[in-house]
Order: sequence, then C-alpha cells, then structure tokens
Amino acid sequence: MRYYLAPMEGVTTAVYRTQHHAFFGGVDKYFIPFITPTTDPKFTTRQLREVAPEHNAGLPAVPQLLTKSADDFIWAAQALRALGYGEINLNLGCPSGTVVAKGKGAGFLAHPDDLDRFLDAIFTAVPGPISVKTRLGLREADEFPALLQIYNRYPIAELTVHPRVRTDYYKGAPNLSAFSDALAESRNPVCYNGDLNNVHNCEALTARFPAVPALMLGRGLVADPALARKAQGGAAADRKTLAAFHDALYEGYCRDFGNERNAVMRMKEYWSYHIHLYKNGEKYGKRIRKSTSAADYRAAAAAVFRDLEPLPEVTASNL
Ligand SMILES: Cc1cc2nc3c(=O)[nH]c(=O)nc-3n(C[C@H](O)[C@H](O)[C@H](O)COP(=O)(O)O)c2cc1C
Repeated sequence: MRYYLAPMEGVTTAVYRTQHHAFFGGVDKYFIPFITPTTDPKFTTRQLREVAPEHNAGLPAVPQLLTKSADDFIWAAQALRALGYGEINLNLGCPSGTVVAKGKGAGFLAHPDDLDRFLDAIFTAVPGPISVKTRLGLREADEFPALLQIYNRYPIAELTVHPRVRTDYYKGAPNLSAFSDALAESRNPVCYNGDLNNVHNCEALTARFPAVPALMLGRGLVADPALARKAQGGAAADRKTLAAFHDALYEGYCRDFGNERNAVMRMKEYWSYHIHLYKNGEKYGKRIRKSTSAADYRAAAAAVFRDLEPLPEVTASNL
C-alpha cells in the first residue's frame, strides 16, 4: 500500500511538507496544494514559494494545477517539468464557490465534453505522467460513470477518487458504493481519498477494497502526523516529537512570513485538525483559536504539550 498526503491549501504548505517528512515520514507522495496558471506563462513569486525545487528538497512532491484552459495547463506543466517534476496532478475536485463558478475544479465535471477536449489536448501536448484528483460529480454521484468513461480514454497515471460530489463539500459519508464501481471500471490505477482519520479506517477501507494500491490522507494525517507511518506498522507520535514538530512549523512560518502574526494564523489552521489528537482538547483548542497575540498563542500551544497526552488514535469521524 502507498500513502499520500492530500493537498490542503493553506495547511500542507512547503514548510509543513518538509517538516513532516523530516519528523514523521511514511508518506510516498506529498501533493502540493493547487496553483492556478494564467495566460501569462510564468509562475508568480507566491506560486514559486510552493513549487520551487529548493522548497521541496528531498521530498517526493507532486504539484497540482487548477485550470480549465488546456493552453494554461500545458505551459505550466512544461514549466514544472523543467523544474524537475515528473508527475503533475490535475484538480477536478475543488468545491469552492468562486472556483466552481468559473467552471474549474469540481465545476469542470459539469462540462464533460469540454473536459474530454481538455484531456485530449493536454495528453497530446505533455508527455510523461499526469494524474487526476476527482470528485464523483457536481451534484449527483450518477454523473460519475460518464466521467469515468472519459477518464478511461486517457493514460492517467493515477486517478484519485474522493467519493463525494461538490455539494457535499467535505461533509457526509463518502459514497463507497460509487467508489467500488469506480475501482471496478477504471482502466487507470485508482487511489482512494476521504475521511481516513485513523489506522482502523485505513484497514477497514483496504479490507473492503483489497485491490486499492494507494490511500490519500488529508485531515486525518494533519490531525495525527504519524498516521501514514502507523498504518504501515510504525510508531505513534510521542508528545516530545509533536512539540518539536510544532516548533519547527512555527519557526518556518515566522521565517517565511517575516512576522509572528501571520505565522499564528497558519498555526491556528493546523491546530483546527491537530487538536483532535488529544483527549479533552476542546478547551485548549478554543484557547489557541482565541489567542490574539503571538505570546498568547505560544502559551496556549505550550499548554497542550504540557498538559495533554496524544490519543493512540484520532476518534473524531468528521474533522
Ligand atoms: C482546507 C482544505 C484545503 C484543501 N485544498 C485542496 C487543494 O489544494 N487541492 C485539492 O485537490 N484538494 C484540496 N482539499 C481536499 C483534500 O485534498 C481532500 O480531498 C479532502 O480533505 C478529503 O480528504 P480527507 O478526508 O482525508 O481530508 C482541501 C481540503 C481542505 C479541508
């Protein structure tokens, strides 16, 4: 089984990915949150902060593009190849209102003919591995069989299926029966993604679908950074390592942003998931959320590592 870190905009940043790899590992691919190429064929400074090879040194990182324009995908994919990346991932799942309104991300799924033409153009122009991360559809899971027929026409390196529709966002149970059909009918290798928050969930999923070769973990892995390692029989995270990882993240963000204020904002996002690794963490999580200065924040975070023991597993089902 292979384990991947899901791309999570604002969470699984370059700082996060490099520190995670250094402290915990167990991840076969780190997917970089999406970048949106425009008609101007160069990456912005902000985009380069995420995809520049020196910010992903030593990591098996996979960049992701969010676009409905084949031309924009093609120049960006070629530029990423020039930076040294092999696999390039296409985002067909982002549920955000502004993205969907522009017909991108999950919004592209509502235009299967355009999607087919787009895939034809990019697979013709860009040699080498292109993978896809998709939802089941915009509104209904029964949109998926027709989409899968389109995917089956192309040599997609790996098709990651998050078995929800756009209107589900990240809530409700993943549709495992639709995933089962996807797995049976896909000509391309399939990766499962959705709600794998602990080792038990990973084992239950692979027991039900023994043919799945890869699992992508998002919120669950941010909650418990040792999850991928544990799923492969490795050790759980101890308090000392979690504290050191936290400090490395915080220092990395302070360095990147040049100020603690923005670093604290990023850390609050991290804690919104990570606090679920602690029993009775709610009160502590609230204190972190409400902290208004960097000093408040540091004290609130230190209190977690001083007072709380990490749970053997995250038990919350919806993070
Ligand atoms: C805050 C946040 C940011 C996300 N950013 C991206 C992204 O940049 N690209 C993408 O394909 N999916 C993105 N996702 C979706 C995740 O990759 C993943 O599909 C989703 O969280 C379900 O998996 P999980 O239950 O393991 O978290 C994001 C999800 C969240 C919650």
